[in-house]
Amino acid sequence: MDKKEENNLLSKLVSFTKRRGFIFQSSEIYGGFSSCYDFGPLGVELKNNIKKEWWNEMTRLHDNVVGLDASILMNPKVWEASGHLTAGFADELVECKKCNHRFRKDLLEKNKCPDCQGELMESRKFNLMMKTFVGPVEDDAAVAYLRAETCQGIYVNFKNVLQSMRMKIPFGIAQIGKSFRNEITPKDFIFRIREFEQMEMQWFCDPKDADKFFEYWLKERMNWYIKLGIKKENLRAKETKKEELAHYAKRAVDIEYKFPFGWKEIEGVHNRGDWDLSNHSKHSRQDLSYTDEAGKKIIPYVIETSAGVERTLFTLLCNGEVQGGRTSTTESSKEVETFLDIDKKLAPVKIAVLPLVKNKEEITNKSKEVYDMLKIHFNCQYDESGSIGRRYRRQDEIGTPYCITVDFETLDNKDVTLRYRDTMKQERIKISDLLSFLNDKFI
Ligand code: GAP
Repeated sequence: MDKKEENNLLSKLVSFTKRRGFIFQSSEIYGGFSSCYDFGPLGVELKNNIKKEWWNEMTRLHDNVVGLDASILMNPKVWEASGHLTAGFADELVECKKCNHRFRKDLLEKNKCPDCQGELMESRKFNLMMKTFVGPVEDDAAVAYLRAETCQGIYVNFKNVLQSMRMKIPFGIAQIGKSFRNEITPKDFIFRIREFEQMEMQWFCDPKDADKFFEYWLKERMNWYIKLGIKKENLRAKETKKEELAHYAKRAVDIEYKFPFGWKEIEGVHNRGDWDLSNHSKHSRQDLSYTDEAGKKIIPYVIETSAGVERTLFTLLCNGEVQGGRTSTTESSKEVETFLDIDKKLAPVKIAVLPLVKNKEEITNKSKEVYDMLKIHFNCQYDESGSIGRRYRRQDEIGTPYCITVDFETLDNKDVTLRYRDTMKQERIKISDLLSFLNDKFI
Protein backbone atom coordinates (compact mmCIF):
# COMPACT_ATOMS: atom_id res chain seq x y z
CA MET A 1 0.00 0.00 0.00
CA ASP A 2 1.49 3.39 -0.95
CA LYS A 3 1.48 6.50 1.28
CA LYS A 4 -1.51 8.02 -0.54
CA GLU A 5 -3.61 4.88 -0.12
CA GLU A 6 -2.61 4.66 3.56
CA ASN A 7 -3.67 8.26 4.19
CA ASN A 8 -6.87 7.68 2.30
CA LEU A 9 -7.79 4.66 4.39
CA LEU A 10 -6.91 6.44 7.59
CA SER A 11 -8.87 9.58 6.77
CA LYS A 12 -11.88 7.41 5.81
CA LEU A 13 -11.66 5.75 9.20
CA VAL A 14 -11.30 9.07 11.01
CA SER A 15 -14.39 10.49 9.33
CA PHE A 16 -16.35 7.26 9.87
CA THR A 17 -15.57 7.23 13.59
CA LYS A 18 -16.68 10.84 13.93
CA ARG A 19 -19.81 10.53 11.78
CA ARG A 20 -21.01 7.45 13.64
CA GLY A 21 -20.23 8.61 17.18
CA PHE A 22 -17.16 6.52 17.99
CA ILE A 23 -14.34 9.06 18.34
CA PHE A 24 -14.26 12.86 18.51
CA GLN A 25 -11.35 15.23 18.75
CA SER A 26 -10.99 16.48 22.32
CA SER A 27 -12.29 20.03 22.92
CA GLU A 28 -13.18 20.22 19.25
CA ILE A 29 -15.14 23.47 19.52
CA TYR A 30 -11.93 25.14 20.74
CA GLY A 31 -9.88 23.79 17.87
CA GLY A 32 -9.03 20.51 19.60
CA PHE A 33 -6.26 19.60 22.00
CA SER A 34 -3.23 17.91 20.59
CA SER A 35 -3.42 14.14 20.67
CA CYS A 36 -6.33 13.85 23.03
CA TYR A 37 -9.53 12.18 21.90
CA ASP A 38 -13.04 11.74 23.27
CA PHE A 39 -14.96 8.54 22.84
CA GLY A 40 -18.56 9.07 21.77
CA PRO A 41 -21.65 6.99 22.59
CA LEU A 42 -20.56 4.04 20.44
CA GLY A 43 -16.86 4.43 21.24
CA VAL A 44 -17.43 4.20 24.97
CA GLU A 45 -19.57 1.07 24.53
CA LEU A 46 -16.84 -0.52 22.44
CA LYS A 47 -14.14 0.45 24.94
CA ASN A 48 -16.20 -0.97 27.82
CA ASN A 49 -16.74 -4.22 25.91
CA ILE A 50 -12.99 -4.54 25.21
CA LYS A 51 -12.17 -3.97 28.88
CA LYS A 52 -14.82 -6.48 29.97
CA GLU A 53 -13.43 -9.14 27.61
CA TRP A 54 -9.87 -8.53 28.81
CA TRP A 55 -10.88 -8.54 32.47
CA ASN A 56 -12.85 -11.78 32.14
CA GLU A 57 -10.10 -13.39 30.11
CA MET A 58 -7.37 -12.50 32.60
CA THR A 59 -9.06 -12.80 35.99
CA ARG A 60 -11.71 -15.45 35.36
CA LEU A 61 -10.21 -17.71 32.75
CA HIS A 62 -6.77 -17.76 34.34
CA ASP A 63 -6.51 -19.18 37.82
CA ASN A 64 -4.36 -17.22 40.18
CA VAL A 65 -4.87 -13.80 38.61
CA VAL A 66 -6.57 -11.24 40.84
CA GLY A 67 -7.58 -7.64 40.16
CA LEU A 68 -6.54 -4.26 41.47
CA ASP A 69 -7.49 -0.62 41.00
CA ALA A 70 -4.65 1.59 42.24
CA SER A 71 -4.79 5.37 42.28
CA ILE A 72 -3.36 7.38 39.38
CA LEU A 73 -1.51 9.75 41.70
CA MET A 74 1.17 8.07 43.78
CA ASN A 75 4.04 9.10 45.99
CA PRO A 76 6.66 10.61 43.60
CA LYS A 77 9.22 8.24 45.11
CA VAL A 78 7.49 5.46 43.15
CA TRP A 79 8.70 7.11 39.93
CA GLU A 80 12.22 7.59 41.25
CA ALA A 81 12.41 3.90 42.12
CA SER A 82 10.93 2.78 38.80
CA GLY A 83 13.47 4.77 36.80
CA HIS A 84 10.84 6.94 35.11
CA LEU A 85 12.28 10.21 36.40
CA THR A 86 15.72 9.45 35.10
CA ALA A 87 16.88 9.07 31.53
CA GLY A 88 15.17 5.68 31.41
CA PHE A 89 11.83 7.16 30.43
CA ALA A 90 12.85 9.86 28.02
CA ASP A 91 12.76 10.29 24.28
CA GLU A 92 15.49 11.92 22.26
CA LEU A 93 14.05 15.17 20.97
CA VAL A 94 15.17 17.37 18.07
CA GLU A 95 13.92 20.85 17.27
CA CYS A 96 13.84 22.57 13.88
CA LYS A 97 15.89 25.79 13.77
CA LYS A 98 13.44 27.35 11.34
CA CYS A 99 9.87 26.43 12.40
CA ASN A 100 10.73 25.23 15.93
CA HIS A 101 8.61 22.10 15.53
CA ARG A 102 9.85 19.20 17.63
CA PHE A 103 10.27 15.57 16.65
CA ARG A 104 11.36 12.26 18.10
CA LYS A 105 14.82 11.58 16.75
CA ASP A 106 14.24 7.84 16.35
CA LEU A 107 11.17 8.43 14.15
CA LEU A 108 12.87 10.77 11.67
CA GLU A 109 13.66 9.35 8.27
CA LYS A 110 16.12 12.12 7.30
CA ASN A 111 18.19 14.58 9.30
CA LYS A 112 15.89 17.44 8.18
CA CYS A 113 12.67 18.89 9.55
CA PRO A 114 9.80 16.86 7.99
CA ASP A 115 7.54 19.95 8.04
CA CYS A 116 9.74 22.66 6.43
CA GLN A 117 12.96 20.80 5.51
CA GLY A 118 14.79 23.17 7.89
CA GLU A 119 17.98 22.29 9.75
CA LEU A 120 17.66 20.53 13.09
CA MET A 121 19.28 21.47 16.43
CA GLU A 122 21.30 19.06 18.58
CA SER A 123 19.07 16.41 20.15
CA ARG A 124 18.25 16.46 23.85
CA LYS A 125 16.46 14.14 26.27
CA PHE A 126 12.82 14.83 26.99
CA ASN A 127 11.07 13.13 29.91
CA LEU A 128 7.58 11.83 29.15
CA MET A 129 6.13 12.03 32.66
CA MET A 130 3.26 14.50 33.11
CA LYS A 131 3.74 16.72 36.13
CA THR A 132 1.11 18.17 38.40
CA PHE A 133 0.85 19.57 41.95
CA VAL A 134 -1.03 18.22 44.93
CA GLY A 135 -2.29 20.48 47.71
CA PRO A 136 -2.68 24.24 47.74
CA VAL A 137 0.97 25.22 47.16
CA GLU A 138 2.57 24.85 43.76
CA ASP A 139 6.20 24.34 44.76
CA ASP A 140 8.76 21.56 44.37
CA ALA A 141 7.54 19.82 47.50
CA ALA A 142 4.07 19.47 46.01
CA VAL A 143 5.08 17.97 42.67
CA ALA A 144 3.30 14.75 41.71
CA TYR A 145 3.10 12.82 38.47
CA LEU A 146 0.28 11.33 36.48
CA ARG A 147 1.23 7.69 36.14
CA ALA A 148 2.91 6.72 32.89
CA GLU A 149 2.10 3.03 33.25
CA THR A 150 -0.40 1.27 35.47
CA CYS A 151 1.94 -1.51 36.57
CA GLN A 152 3.76 0.57 39.20
CA GLY A 153 0.53 0.61 41.23
CA ILE A 154 0.67 -3.18 41.11
CA TYR A 155 4.28 -3.46 42.33
CA VAL A 156 3.72 -1.15 45.28
CA ASN A 157 0.72 -3.30 46.26
CA PHE A 158 2.54 -6.61 45.79
CA LYS A 159 2.82 -7.27 49.53
CA ASN A 160 -0.76 -6.13 50.26
CA VAL A 161 -2.22 -8.49 47.68
CA LEU A 162 0.12 -11.34 48.62
CA GLN A 163 -0.85 -11.16 52.28
CA SER A 164 -4.53 -10.21 52.11
CA MET A 165 -5.35 -12.85 49.50
CA ARG A 166 -2.88 -15.47 50.83
CA MET A 167 -1.40 -15.83 47.33
CA LYS A 168 1.42 -18.17 46.43
CA ILE A 169 3.69 -17.65 43.45
CA PRO A 170 3.17 -17.97 40.58
CA PHE A 171 0.28 -15.51 40.61
CA GLY A 172 -0.79 -12.45 38.69
CA ILE A 173 -2.33 -9.06 39.40
CA ALA A 174 -4.39 -7.43 36.67
CA GLN A 175 -5.36 -3.80 36.37
CA ILE A 176 -7.08 -1.51 33.87
CA GLY A 177 -6.62 2.23 34.10
CA LYS A 178 -5.55 5.53 32.64
CA SER A 179 -1.93 6.34 31.88
CA PHE A 180 -0.46 9.61 30.70
CA ARG A 181 2.60 10.35 28.58
CA ASN A 182 3.77 13.64 27.22
CA GLU A 183 4.45 12.09 23.83
CA ILE A 184 6.49 14.31 21.50
CA THR A 185 5.17 13.33 18.12
CA PRO A 186 1.86 11.73 18.72
CA LYS A 187 0.32 10.80 15.40
CA ASP A 188 -1.68 8.30 13.39
CA PHE A 189 -5.01 9.22 14.95
CA ILE A 190 -5.48 7.37 18.27
CA PHE A 191 -2.36 5.22 17.88
CA ARG A 192 -0.09 7.39 20.05
CA ILE A 193 -1.99 9.67 22.37
CA ARG A 194 -1.22 11.52 25.57
CA GLU A 195 -3.99 10.09 27.73
CA PHE A 196 -4.85 6.44 27.25
CA GLU A 197 -5.92 3.33 29.08
CA GLN A 198 -3.76 0.32 29.73
CA MET A 199 -4.77 -3.25 30.52
CA GLU A 200 -1.78 -4.71 32.34
CA MET A 201 -1.13 -7.97 34.12
CA GLN A 202 1.98 -8.63 36.19
CA TRP A 203 2.79 -12.29 36.77
CA PHE A 204 5.06 -12.93 39.76
CA CYS A 205 7.04 -16.13 39.51
CA ASP A 206 10.17 -17.96 40.58
CA PRO A 207 13.08 -16.65 38.44
CA LYS A 208 13.80 -20.17 37.24
CA ASP A 209 10.31 -20.37 35.70
CA ALA A 210 10.37 -16.95 34.03
CA ASP A 211 11.27 -18.16 30.51
CA LYS A 212 8.57 -20.80 30.55
CA PHE A 213 5.92 -18.31 31.69
CA PHE A 214 7.07 -15.74 29.14
CA GLU A 215 6.28 -18.21 26.35
CA TYR A 216 3.00 -19.14 28.00
CA TRP A 217 1.74 -15.56 28.30
CA LEU A 218 2.88 -14.57 24.85
CA LYS A 219 0.84 -17.41 23.38
CA GLU A 220 -2.16 -16.61 25.55
CA ARG A 221 -2.10 -12.96 24.53
CA MET A 222 -1.72 -13.67 20.81
CA ASN A 223 -4.67 -16.05 21.08
CA TRP A 224 -6.81 -13.40 22.75
CA TYR A 225 -6.64 -11.18 19.69
CA ILE A 226 -7.44 -14.12 17.44
CA LYS A 227 -10.41 -14.98 19.68
CA LEU A 228 -11.63 -11.41 19.21
CA GLY A 229 -11.64 -11.96 15.46
CA ILE A 230 -8.39 -10.20 14.49
CA LYS A 231 -7.18 -11.76 11.26
CA LYS A 232 -4.16 -13.98 11.90
CA GLU A 233 -2.28 -12.74 8.85
CA ASN A 234 -2.34 -9.21 10.30
CA LEU A 235 -0.84 -10.23 13.66
CA ARG A 236 2.74 -11.04 14.48
CA ALA A 237 5.10 -11.31 17.44
CA LYS A 238 8.29 -9.28 17.11
CA GLU A 239 11.27 -9.83 19.38
CA THR A 240 12.89 -6.58 20.60
CA LYS A 241 16.62 -6.38 19.96
CA LYS A 242 18.80 -6.45 23.08
CA GLU A 243 20.07 -2.91 22.45
CA GLU A 244 16.52 -1.56 22.13
CA LEU A 245 15.16 -3.06 25.35
CA ALA A 246 13.53 -0.66 27.87
CA HIS A 247 15.55 0.01 31.00
CA TYR A 248 13.59 -2.57 33.01
CA ALA A 249 13.38 -5.41 30.52
CA LYS A 250 15.37 -8.63 30.21
CA ARG A 251 13.31 -9.68 27.22
CA ALA A 252 10.44 -8.07 25.29
CA VAL A 253 8.21 -9.19 22.47
CA ASP A 254 5.81 -6.80 20.78
CA ILE A 255 2.52 -8.13 19.52
CA GLU A 256 2.06 -6.16 16.32
CA TYR A 257 -0.86 -5.49 14.02
CA LYS A 258 -0.66 -4.49 10.39
CA PHE A 259 -2.29 -1.05 10.44
CA PRO A 260 -2.88 0.95 7.24
CA PHE A 261 0.38 2.77 8.15
CA GLY A 262 2.39 -0.42 8.71
CA TRP A 263 3.17 -3.01 11.40
CA LYS A 264 2.88 -1.43 14.86
CA GLU A 265 2.87 -2.60 18.46
CA ILE A 266 -0.48 -3.21 20.11
CA GLU A 267 0.79 -5.04 23.19
CA GLY A 268 4.08 -5.74 24.88
CA VAL A 269 5.03 -8.93 26.72
CA HIS A 270 8.02 -8.28 28.96
CA ASN A 271 10.28 -10.17 31.29
CA ARG A 272 11.02 -7.41 33.82
CA GLY A 273 13.16 -9.67 35.99
CA ASP A 274 13.35 -8.46 39.59
CA TRP A 275 13.93 -4.83 38.51
CA ASP A 276 10.70 -3.42 39.95
CA LEU A 277 10.38 -5.30 43.23
CA SER A 278 14.11 -4.89 43.98
CA ASN A 279 14.05 -1.16 43.31
CA HIS A 280 10.88 -0.58 45.30
CA SER A 281 12.37 -2.62 48.17
CA LYS A 282 15.51 -0.49 48.08
CA HIS A 283 13.75 2.88 47.85
CA SER A 284 10.94 2.13 50.33
CA ARG A 285 13.16 0.10 52.67
CA GLN A 286 10.40 -2.50 52.84
CA ASP A 287 11.04 -6.16 52.37
CA LEU A 288 9.25 -7.13 49.14
CA SER A 289 10.72 -10.61 48.97
CA TYR A 290 8.71 -13.80 48.90
CA THR A 291 9.36 -16.75 51.16
CA ASP A 292 8.92 -20.03 49.30
CA GLU A 293 7.72 -23.35 50.74
CA ALA A 294 11.25 -24.33 51.68
CA GLY A 295 11.63 -21.08 53.66
CA LYS A 296 13.94 -19.51 51.08
CA LYS A 297 13.57 -15.79 50.38
CA ILE A 298 13.42 -14.76 46.73
CA ILE A 299 12.55 -11.64 44.79
CA PRO A 300 10.06 -12.93 42.23
CA TYR A 301 10.56 -12.17 38.56
CA VAL A 302 7.77 -10.38 36.74
CA ILE A 303 6.32 -11.36 33.39
CA GLU A 304 4.21 -8.47 32.18
CA THR A 305 1.51 -8.33 29.55
CA SER A 306 0.70 -4.72 28.65
CA ALA A 307 -2.03 -3.77 26.19
CA GLY A 308 -3.69 -0.47 25.31
CA VAL A 309 -7.47 -0.13 25.20
CA GLU A 310 -7.41 2.51 22.44
CA ARG A 311 -4.94 0.53 20.34
CA THR A 312 -7.13 -2.55 20.65
CA LEU A 313 -10.13 -0.46 19.61
CA PHE A 314 -8.20 1.00 16.67
CA THR A 315 -7.13 -2.52 15.68
CA LEU A 316 -10.70 -3.79 15.79
CA LEU A 317 -11.95 -0.92 13.64
CA CYS A 318 -9.18 -1.42 11.06
CA ASN A 319 -9.75 -5.16 11.15
CA GLY A 320 -13.52 -5.02 10.81
CA GLU A 321 -14.31 -2.14 8.56
CA VAL A 322 -15.34 -3.55 5.22
CA GLN A 323 -15.64 -0.70 2.81
CA GLY A 324 -18.21 -1.28 0.10
CA GLY A 325 -18.02 -4.96 0.85
CA ARG A 326 -21.39 -5.97 -0.48
CA THR A 327 -24.49 -4.84 -2.28
CA SER A 328 -27.62 -4.31 -0.29
CA THR A 329 -30.44 -6.66 -1.22
CA THR A 330 -33.11 -4.69 0.55
CA GLU A 331 -33.12 -1.53 -1.53
CA SER A 332 -34.12 -1.22 -5.13
CA SER A 333 -31.21 1.21 -5.58
CA LYS A 334 -28.75 -1.61 -4.72
CA GLU A 335 -26.49 0.77 -2.85
CA VAL A 336 -23.07 -0.56 -1.91
CA GLU A 337 -22.90 -0.73 1.83
CA THR A 338 -20.26 -0.71 4.52
CA PHE A 339 -20.46 -3.04 7.44
CA LEU A 340 -18.36 -3.36 10.54
CA ASP A 341 -17.30 -6.96 10.92
CA ILE A 342 -16.81 -7.13 14.66
CA ASP A 343 -17.33 -9.94 17.16
CA LYS A 344 -20.85 -9.70 18.54
CA LYS A 345 -19.53 -9.65 22.12
CA LEU A 346 -17.76 -6.39 21.27
CA ALA A 347 -20.41 -4.75 19.10
CA PRO A 348 -21.43 -1.42 20.69
CA VAL A 349 -25.11 -2.03 19.91
CA LYS A 350 -26.25 -5.64 20.13
CA ILE A 351 -29.80 -5.41 18.79
CA ALA A 352 -31.75 -2.79 16.86
CA VAL A 353 -35.52 -2.80 17.06
CA LEU A 354 -37.13 -1.33 13.96
CA PRO A 355 -40.83 -0.81 13.33
CA LEU A 356 -41.49 -1.37 9.63
CA VAL A 357 -43.45 1.90 9.50
CA LYS A 358 -43.62 4.73 11.97
CA ASN A 359 -47.11 5.96 11.25
CA LYS A 360 -49.03 2.93 12.53
CA GLU A 361 -49.47 3.08 16.26
CA GLU A 362 -50.08 -0.66 16.68
CA ILE A 363 -46.71 -1.32 15.06
CA THR A 364 -44.72 1.33 16.94
CA ASN A 365 -46.33 0.30 20.26
CA LYS A 366 -45.50 -3.35 19.65
CA SER A 367 -41.93 -2.38 18.68
CA LYS A 368 -41.49 -0.42 21.89
CA GLU A 369 -42.79 -3.38 23.87
CA VAL A 370 -40.18 -5.62 22.25
CA TYR A 371 -37.50 -2.96 22.79
CA ASP A 372 -38.42 -2.55 26.48
CA MET A 373 -38.24 -6.31 26.96
CA LEU A 374 -34.79 -6.61 25.36
CA LYS A 375 -33.07 -3.47 26.64
CA ILE A 376 -32.90 -4.86 30.17
CA HIS A 377 -30.59 -7.58 28.86
CA PHE A 378 -28.76 -6.07 25.89
CA ASN A 379 -27.62 -2.70 24.65
CA CYS A 380 -30.42 -2.00 22.16
CA GLN A 381 -31.34 0.82 19.83
CA TYR A 382 -34.83 1.78 18.73
CA ASP A 383 -34.91 3.40 15.30
CA GLU A 384 -37.95 4.38 13.27
CA SER A 385 -36.58 7.01 10.90
CA GLY A 386 -35.91 6.32 7.24
CA SER A 387 -36.64 3.35 5.01
CA ILE A 388 -36.10 -0.10 6.48
CA GLY A 389 -33.21 -0.73 4.07
CA ARG A 390 -31.46 2.43 5.14
CA ARG A 391 -31.93 1.55 8.80
CA TYR A 392 -30.43 -1.91 8.25
CA ARG A 393 -27.44 -0.29 6.61
CA ARG A 394 -27.01 2.19 9.43
CA GLN A 395 -26.85 -0.72 11.87
CA ASP A 396 -24.53 -2.78 9.64
CA GLU A 397 -22.13 0.13 9.50
CA ILE A 398 -21.72 0.17 13.29
CA GLY A 399 -21.60 -3.61 13.53
CA THR A 400 -24.99 -4.36 15.14
CA PRO A 401 -25.26 -8.15 14.83
CA TYR A 402 -29.09 -8.42 14.93
CA CYS A 403 -31.95 -6.27 13.70
CA ILE A 404 -35.51 -7.04 14.67
CA THR A 405 -38.33 -5.73 12.52
CA VAL A 406 -41.89 -5.46 13.71
CA ASP A 407 -44.34 -5.49 10.80
CA PHE A 408 -48.00 -6.08 9.99
CA GLU A 409 -47.65 -9.85 10.32
CA THR A 410 -46.40 -9.34 13.87
CA LEU A 411 -49.81 -8.07 14.91
CA ASP A 412 -51.50 -11.32 13.82
CA ASN A 413 -48.80 -13.92 14.40
CA LYS A 414 -46.92 -12.40 17.37
CA ASP A 415 -43.62 -12.91 15.63
CA VAL A 416 -40.90 -10.62 14.25
CA THR A 417 -38.26 -10.68 11.54
CA LEU A 418 -34.75 -11.23 12.81
CA ARG A 419 -32.04 -10.15 10.38
CA TYR A 420 -28.40 -11.19 10.65
CA ARG A 421 -25.71 -8.58 9.95
CA ASP A 422 -23.18 -10.99 8.49
CA THR A 423 -25.36 -12.90 6.05
CA MET A 424 -28.29 -10.47 5.71
CA LYS A 425 -30.47 -13.59 6.12
CA GLN A 426 -33.85 -13.13 7.74
CA GLU A 427 -36.03 -15.46 9.78
CA ARG A 428 -39.27 -15.20 11.72
CA ILE A 429 -39.13 -15.68 15.50
CA LYS A 430 -42.01 -15.73 17.96
CA ILE A 431 -41.81 -12.80 20.38
CA SER A 432 -42.22 -15.24 23.27
CA ASP A 433 -39.04 -17.08 22.13
CA LEU A 434 -37.01 -13.98 21.33
CA LEU A 435 -35.25 -13.47 24.64
CA SER A 436 -33.99 -17.02 25.06
CA PHE A 437 -33.07 -17.16 21.35
CA LEU A 438 -30.92 -14.04 21.67
CA ASN A 439 -29.48 -15.07 25.02
CA ASP A 440 -28.21 -18.23 23.35
CA LYS A 441 -26.62 -16.16 20.60
CA PHE A 442 -24.59 -14.10 23.06
CA ILE A 443 -23.32 -16.96 25.23
N1 GAP B 1 4.25 -1.25 31.57
C1 GAP B 1 4.91 -1.41 30.33
C2 GAP B 1 4.50 -0.44 29.33
O1 GAP B 1 3.82 0.52 29.63
P1 GAP B 1 4.73 0.15 26.80
O2 GAP B 1 5.26 -0.67 25.67
O3 GAP B 1 5.27 1.50 27.02
O4 GAP B 1 4.93 -0.75 28.09
C3 GAP B 1 2.35 -0.89 26.60
O5 GAP B 1 3.15 0.26 26.64
C4 GAP B 1 1.12 -0.68 25.74
O6 GAP B 1 0.44 0.51 26.14
C5 GAP B 1 1.43 -0.46 24.26
O7 GAP B 1 1.59 -1.68 23.57
C6 GAP B 1 0.20 0.29 23.80
O8 GAP B 1 -0.87 -0.61 23.54
C7 GAP B 1 -0.15 1.15 25.00
N2 GAP B 1 0.43 2.50 24.85
C8 GAP B 1 1.63 2.94 25.24
N3 GAP B 1 1.82 4.24 24.94
C9 GAP B 1 0.69 4.66 24.32
C10 GAP B 1 0.24 5.90 23.77
N4 GAP B 1 0.99 7.00 23.82
N5 GAP B 1 -0.98 5.94 23.22
C11 GAP B 1 -1.78 4.84 23.18
N6 GAP B 1 -1.42 3.65 23.71
C12 GAP B 1 -0.21 3.55 24.27
